[in-house]
Amino acid sequence: MSTQRVETLRWREGALELIDQRLLPRRFEYVRCTSVVEVASAIATMVVRGAPAIGCAAAYGIALAAQEARSLGRDMPSSLEQAFELLILTRPTAVNLRWALERMRSRWQQSPMSAHDVAQRLLTEALAIHAEDIAANQAMGRLGAALLPDRCVVLTHCNAGALATAGHGTALGIVRSAIAAGKKVEVIADETRPFLQGARLTAWELQQEGIPVTLIADSAAGYLMSQGGIDAVIVGADRVAANGDVANKIGTYQVAVLAQRHGIPCYVACPVATIDSSLQTGKDIPIEERSADEVFGFGDRIWAPPGIRARNPAFDVTPAELVSALITERGIARGPYTTSITALLASTPNP
Ligand code: MRU
Repeated sequence: MSTQRVETLRWREGALELIDQRLLPRRFEYVRCTSVVEVASAIATMVVRGAPAIGCAAAYGIALAAQEARSLGRDMPSSLEQAFELLILTRPTAVNLRWALERMRSRWQQSPMSAHDVAQRLLTEALAIHAEDIAANQAMGRLGAALLPDRCVVLTHCNAGALATAGHGTALGIVRSAIAAGKKVEVIADETRPFLQGARLTAWELQQEGIPVTLIADSAAGYLMSQGGIDAVIVGADRVAANGDVANKIGTYQVAVLAQRHGIPCYVACPVATIDSSLQTGKDIPIEERSADEVFGFGDRIWAPPGIRARNPAFDVTPAELVSALITERGIARGPYTTSITALLASTPNP
């Protein structure tokens, strides 16, 4: 099975279907969501994860809320506001969630319409967000691929691939585009404790397409860099502040510090929807703290002693000075980021 044909999210017969990412790589199954409550639960429980994929799922959640309000004859504006509030609380760090919800809200607030037309318009908007995410990933893939040498080894952290987006991926989209352009790219995937997005998802997704991938324990990254085994680091992002500070999966910060220590470029790939220009610096980015159970073990296997305390911050913030470039669908930004990000946001989106 190729991930080119695997759709992380798909709209089928009036419902949102999501690959259940909690089961990969052991099982490949779709979860069918027919209501906004089911979509919110799928986001909160990590059936779907990755900043752009969360945004797309939330947009479909609003479309489902509109369908529900129409068929039950409920007040449309208040039903949609409730759906917005439900979805926004699911995960705090990825700003793509708020971005997608606000874009949907701007559509239902546009002009008075019949319930039928609102529902239709919101589904059209969700489908547009979905299609635009794939196009953005392909554009950043082309731009990012040009930064890579003809032969290289890329280290990535977490999963910023097709599974984290509507398709193609951000960090892994660059790898895919570079390979399509004839470059020889190998990937080193950090396993990404504690939820193992690297071991379970990045390794699986690349293996499906025959892209060379080697899995390492997170703690092996520094050693491999010191041995000259890594040419570039490419990661995704959950939120980028106006000054270029980047929130991404826990452990990204230490990878970026190590990359700088070894003179390896550290690239961050994300759509402009991930940039939150309302936040001056990364200090203001809300960091999700997840259940300590994820640190005690995985699935049924618990390896920590009973009664021990644990912390489980799911994201960290990499200071802008450690980011060699920010690769977006509108272009590549380099430091000083306050200026380059402002210019990027003011630029016209590529057709
Ligand atoms: O907790 P997750 O799995 O949702 O975290 C995902 C990440 O941190 C990704 O790197 C980020 O969302 C970018 S995905 C293109």
